[in-house]
Amino acid sequence: MKLIMYVYLILMLVIMSCQKADENQPVTQNELIEKGEYLVTVAGCNDCHSPKKFTPEGPIPDGNLLLSGHPQKSELPPLDPESVGPGKWMLMNDHLTAFVGPWGMTFSANLTPDEQTGIGMWNEEHFINAMRSGKHMGKGRAILPPMPWFNLTHAKDEDLKAIFTYLKSLKPVKNLVPGPISPDKLGQM
Ligand code: HEC
Repeated sequence: MKLIMYVYLILMLVIMSCQKADENQPVTQNELIEKGEYLVTVAGCNDCHSPKKFTPEGPIPDGNLLLSGHPQKSELPPLDPESVGPGKWMLMNDHLTAFVGPWGMTFSANLTPDEQTGIGMWNEEHFINAMRSGKHMGKGRAILPPMPWFNLTHAKDEDLKAIFTYLKSLKPVKNLVPGPISPDKLGQM
């Protein structure tokens, strides 16, 4: 009887130490991608960064162009600069990828790993620093509204790493997003 108890105790110890080792296992690339996809989905990055398909239920992210930013070839409707500004309207296009407000006009960035037009040349540090500082690639110009980088500032490094790993795993889409237009230039569009 005593022997059975000892065997049982040793077995339990072995099982517990295995579980502990499992917890400390580094996450695999696939697990990181999966976590990143989950975070991107619940944080609503597709709302602004994915071109839309138009369905009777409303616009949904276009699975073929996921996170490729404001579609370069899409036409914008005419804009009356008098209707925007402080105390007036803020506007957006039908894809939810172009925005007008007191900051001028901005276009959501291409977050796919295309080297010329997306984040193909970015490393993890560029991404984390951009989300922490609100500056392009972490040291360039200010990232303008409505990009909610100030929310992502509170994300843990491991979560930002997962998001970046997922973005890098996407199908690269060649789509050159225009730079921002300052408020004084809106009338010349
Ligand atoms: C409400 C719309 C909106 C949402 C939601 C949004 N973005 Fe953005 N994002 C933008 C716009 C617009 C820009 C371009 C801003 C500019 O040109 O200054 C941008 C730019 C970026 C950039 C480029 C920054 C740089 O350094 O040039 C990255 C990276 C980015 N977004 C990642 C994300 C991620 C990841 C999420 C989800 C967690 C997200 N965005 C959610 C609108 C949005």
